[in-house]
Amino acid sequence: MSKDVNIDWSNLGFNYIKTDYRYISVWKDGKWDEGKLTEDNMLTISEASTALHYGQQCFEGLKAYRRKDGKIQLFRVDRNAKRMNDSNKKLLMPEVPVEKFIDACMQVVRANEHFVPPYGSGATLYLRPFMIGVGNNIGVKPAPEYIFSVFAVPVGPYFKEGLSPCNFMIADYDRAAPQGTGGQKVGGNYAASLHPHLIAAERGFADCIYLDPATHTKIEEVGAANFFGITKNNEFVTPVSPSILPSITKYSLMDIARDYLKMPVYERDVYVDNLDEFKEAGACGTAAVITPIGGIEYNNELHVFHSEKEVGPVIKELYRILCGIQFGDVEAPEGWIFEV
Ligand SMILES: Cc1ncc(COP(=O)(O)O)c(C=O)c1O
Repeated sequence: MSKDVNIDWSNLGFNYIKTDYRYISVWKDGKWDEGKLTEDNMLTISEASTALHYGQQCFEGLKAYRRKDGKIQLFRVDRNAKRMNDSNKKLLMPEVPVEKFIDACMQVVRANEHFVPPYGSGATLYLRPFMIGVGNNIGVKPAPEYIFSVFAVPVGPYFKEGLSPCNFMIADYDRAAPQGTGGQKVGGNYAASLHPHLIAAERGFADCIYLDPATHTKIEEVGAANFFGITKNNEFVTPVSPSILPSITKYSLMDIARDYLKMPVYERDVYVDNLDEFKEAGACGTAAVITPIGGIEYNNELHVFHSEKEVGPVIKELYRILCGIQFGDVEAPEGWIFEV
């Protein structure tokens, strides 16, 4: 590592730490500027920016992993670039060319190399790309200018003491509308999730589970993670709906289940009154990696899957392979790894 930083890698949480450099690029008069790294972590924008009033913004989240040989790699960053452009299209924001997005992430990791936690600590460098509508505008319409930026924060492993199950409750609220923006990574979905999350936390649950907003009969998201279950027939099942954010971790686990564990894989409806079909269940995402679901509270009863304390064997194996690929210990499918 080039520079020393005074960080206790084994005690990192998921908290903002100012790293040295971030990337910033401006879209104006119909085109992107070249973009640059800056040490300034403050943005000065018009008070009339659409991002502040009309929620015209979106973001992404991915991690840089330190391998055993000391090199650094990104996991499926092209997928984040494509998903961000899906959000951009939905909110009438300009697309960021995929190469520009990847280059921005690479530049930020290289410039903050000394903040990439050591191999074996379980910690990673979390990257937060985002887009905001800026410039002077007061009507409800797309902004005249946009900022695309990427910053980085070292974060700890989700489970300090290793993988362990969490309990969740079914939310009484929706995070997204049936034909709305649930399938995009836009801030409004997360604003809508703050209150239901607080209720779940106050009741001692890790988070809440959202049902489909049209009928409230099918499982959609687990907080800010996707749901998957392992059926008693050993199939990998995950719900499908336009209001679920397409999790890159989830699509990776589907490939791992099919190609590495030879399991049948299905994207289909998961009914909340049929949880008994699963022997194991989990939540997955960049931050959560895989969070085994101990139980789900629904209609005042806790439905326990494998166990509230122990992790099931299939989830253990999915976790081992996924983390192995991300940290470079297990051979990855072609195109998943981007060496920095
Ligand atoms: C609502 C929501 N669902 C699912 C995920 C998991 O997606 P990914 O695996 O791409 O991180 C995230 C996190 O990005 C999320 O915010």
